[in-house]
Amino acid sequence: MTTLTVDQLRAAIERELPGVRADLEALVRIPGIAFDGFDFAPLERSAQAVAELMRGVGLDVQVSRIGDGHPAVIGRRPAPPGAPTVLLYAHHDVQPVGDLSKWESEPFEPTERDGRLYGRGAADDKAGVMAHIAALRAFGCGTDDDRLPLGVVVFVEGEEEFGSDSLPGLLAKHSEELAADVIVIADSGNWDIGVPALTTSLRGIVNSFVDVQVLHSAVHSGMFGGVVPDALTVLCRLLATLHDENGDVAVQGLVSGQAAPLDYPVDRFRAEAGVIDGVELIGTGRIVDRMWTKPSLSVLGIDAPRTAEAPNALVPSARAKLSMRLAPGDDPKSAYQALIAHLEKHVPWGAKVSFEFEHDGNPCVIDATGKYFDAARAAFTTAWDGTEPVEIGVGGSIPFIATFQEMFPNASILVTGVEDPHAKAHGPNESLHLGEFARVCLAEALLLHNVAAAAAA
Ligand code: BES
Ligand code: MN
Repeated sequence: MTTLTVDQLRAAIERELPGVRADLEALVRIPGIAFDGFDFAPLERSAQAVAELMRGVGLDVQVSRIGDGHPAVIGRRPAPPGAPTVLLYAHHDVQPVGDLSKWESEPFEPTERDGRLYGRGAADDKAGVMAHIAALRAFGCGTDDDRLPLGVVVFVEGEEEFGSDSLPGLLAKHSEELAADVIVIADSGNWDIGVPALTTSLRGIVNSFVDVQVLHSAVHSGMFGGVVPDALTVLCRLLATLHDENGDVAVQGLVSGQAAPLDYPVDRFRAEAGVIDGVELIGTGRIVDRMWTKPSLSVLGIDAPRTAEAPNALVPSARAKLSMRLAPGDDPKSAYQALIAHLEKHVPWGAKVSFEFEHDGNPCVIDATGKYFDAARAAFTTAWDGTEPVEIGVGGSIPFIATFQEMFPNASILVTGVEDPHAKAHGPNESLHLGEFARVCLAEALLLHNVAAAAAA
């Protein structure tokens, strides 16, 4: 079998894009959210839809889960003799949509505006799923004229956004089927529109809850106020100790490092994040250090009376959800202990405080050297018409990567993805830049082409 040339792959991606776009839209219409308390039926449907897409490119497909975990989809085809196997990862679950009134179009109704496709999961990570399918379709997989020169395993997880609790189990259960020489994780993003990237470090994460309690139940705020502290004031004072006066994380014992020597101009950062004029940025050091290689601590939510309904009463208890991001090299278990120690030490006025762990994930660093990384760089450079990829870190987390590194220490892990700085993943009005998406699909097809060539060389 002769495989396809670069020009043929370019033409093939061009040919496949309309179908890929339609299938992406169908996936975006399925609201699969793995967070506790959501209806999980859509996750079953999105797993089935992904399974169908995999069958369409001729893979041998199974839907797998651990206990009552959410369905992952695994599709395989063996490598031709002597050829390498590439594992293609993405996830089919998405984040909750948050405040619906902040969305300019329905989150689960894909809508194009100004060259972007809007919808929850349009970028993170259903476009990642479709980039894999697009690359396989470009090679004719599933047709009579199938020219894929290597083996593939496509692994699409169903609970990445809720901490991937099943992953260790899934990896153990399928360790033989998932073994690969190269792993492509299409769940990160590029440096800018027109500038591709390879992600080589990700932060870890620890999500947890802190509860404070001061009273057995609410009491009149006039009668008892001034003597009894209310739980919200206690919680606010406690949370205020998490950062020092510069805005650096004040919890002792967390790892900090230095990021790659990339300049992220402050003005660009402010614009991309949408920071309101006059609001200062927190933390010290370069922006890329603060985003990628230093810890961060954010308060994601507070359970407290709603202001419109709040009576004149002292609040007896309150709960906050905290999200701590960890620098590469840190350990989520010890970091969580450090956080608890900090909170216990700083709780004001003897309030009762308790903790609940939600989930965590390891940070990771990738040594991007070797023939497969070179193959990826060349593929990206071709797909972006001569612009070479930059090596970036990201502040987000993909716990899966560290788990995979441990299990398959010899595999080259290429972290790619479709997100651009305007994608607004996890926020309202998430979107995918369609022009960049076309390049991502082409880059992945070229990557498979180059990996096969590099293995043969
Ligand atoms: N796609 C993101 C990871 C990411 C974030 C890559 C930012 C590049 C930039 C992924 O789906 C994600 O959001 N992961 C969660 C993991 C958590 C639930 C364990 C995250 O980072 O919040
Ligand atoms: Mn993602």
